[in-house]
Amino acid sequence: MTKSINGFSKLSKAEKLEWLGETYADNAADFVQEMKSWQYADNSMQRVIDGFTENAVANFALPYSIAPNFLINGQVYAVPMVIEESSVVAAASSAAKFWLDRGGFHAEVIDTVKLGQVHFRWPGNPERLREIFQNLKPVLIESAEDLVANMKSRGGGITGIELIDFADVEPGYYQLRVSFQTCDSMGANFINSVLERFDQTLEAFFTDFEGINDEERDVEVIMSILSNYTPECAVRVWAECPISSFRELAIKQGMEAEMLAERFAMAVRIAQIDTYRATTHNKGIYNGIDAVVLATGNDFRAIEAGGHTFASRDGQYRSLSSCHISDGNFTFEMTVPLAMGTVGGLTALHPLAKRSLELLGHPSARELMCIAASVGLAQNFAAVRSLITTGIQKGHMKMHLTNILNHLEATEEEMTSALSHFEHQTVSFSAVRGYLEGLRETH
Ligand code: HMG
Repeated sequence: MTKSINGFSKLSKAEKLEWLGETYADNAADFVQEMKSWQYADNSMQRVIDGFTENAVANFALPYSIAPNFLINGQVYAVPMVIEESSVVAAASSAAKFWLDRGGFHAEVIDTVKLGQVHFRWPGNPERLREIFQNLKPVLIESAEDLVANMKSRGGGITGIELIDFADVEPGYYQLRVSFQTCDSMGANFINSVLERFDQTLEAFFTDFEGINDEERDVEVIMSILSNYTPECAVRVWAECPISSFRELAIKQGMEAEMLAERFAMAVRIAQIDTYRATTHNKGIYNGIDAVVLATGNDFRAIEAGGHTFASRDGQYRSLSSCHISDGNFTFEMTVPLAMGTVGGLTALHPLAKRSLELLGHPSARELMCIAASVGLAQNFAAVRSLITTGIQKGHMKMHLTNILNHLEATEEEMTSALSHFEHQTVSFSAVRGYLEGLRETH
């Protein structure tokens, strides 16, 4: 049987499921029935969800969790997080609780500048292009006035256009680098529409402008698109306390507070020095950030891509966070680019994204950036704290226990018994399987 198809996109959802079931599934009827069971009964709701993407045949469920007790800039939030990985929400909640009594998280938006680029080829010399650019720039801005009018009335719009010369690395290659303020929206569609208008204007300008000769008319736009690298749309977040505040935590590990703090700082320095460690360290930060980004209907791929580039800004990939100890004080901080929005896109369409924003008190984009950055730092704090004390597996496997029990098809009764048994035992897949086998033999 052929496994390829023409016109899949034109089939109805039922036809798509039927074809998939018959072509790829182990049992077509079971497959179709299960996939259908993952749909909303409410058709209008399902239509909204289907509209987010193409060729949708079911909904893919992920838990919607809450990390309470996040004190950020003096306000306490219960933060929604969407993530599939065990122990992330527990870790964020636990760090939030720890910092709640120590002043919480402090965050400030550095700026909210977003960038877009028009990449083009031009045959002349850079000096000459710089002269022509002086005439081109106002024409570009004027040409996009209709697209920018609404954003301008909200206080945003185009804030700058630069000519960037790459002709020494790629002959004839130049770029318009355009800066935007997009207020409470992430602004991707707005930015891309303006850039595509600039394409047309650029080509028309070089055709019509009287101040250039025929050879100079030969401009070729290669592409135009926003950049997900937003080093100037960033937040600085920090948490600080006297080292003596670690006393209780340190005693549990048989350490002095100073030792715990020093060890923490060393662990963060290692992630500054070593790229392999930095990658895992930053993954821990994005455990927190991505979960908030998803829960609020923002674009986690864009935000991660920008963050990882930022982590390499001096030429080596390093930890996004840093830790300082001075005069008996511990400061843990991070600067992270975060292009987030609270209006437009999925934020207004996804019913749970709307609920997330409601739970967060209908934040502005700036406030949401502060919240996401704080959750990232909290997550990082909890992970590093575990790594330098108990090791990660103890807490992680404790949270992962339910997944193992579900995987081994434990009954309610077995579940209760195992959760209590493993309260003080090391959790591993084989230990849990052994325990369940023991229980089942006894019964
Ligand atoms: P614990 O000390 O066993 O927790 O820590 P506890 O039972 O004493 O509870 C203290 C608080 O933790 C609770 O307060 C909750 O806030 C939270 P309460 O609600 O009782 O007032 N908490 C929970 N929240 C929800 N559900 C739960 C739950 N249990 C505790 N079931 C904990 C347990 C997991 C918090 C701790 O071991 C921890 O923080 N571990 C770190 C886990 C982690 O970072 N996981 C991320 C996945 S691993 C990874 O991908 C990243 C990594 O590679 C990054 C890196 O290398 O840097 C590690």
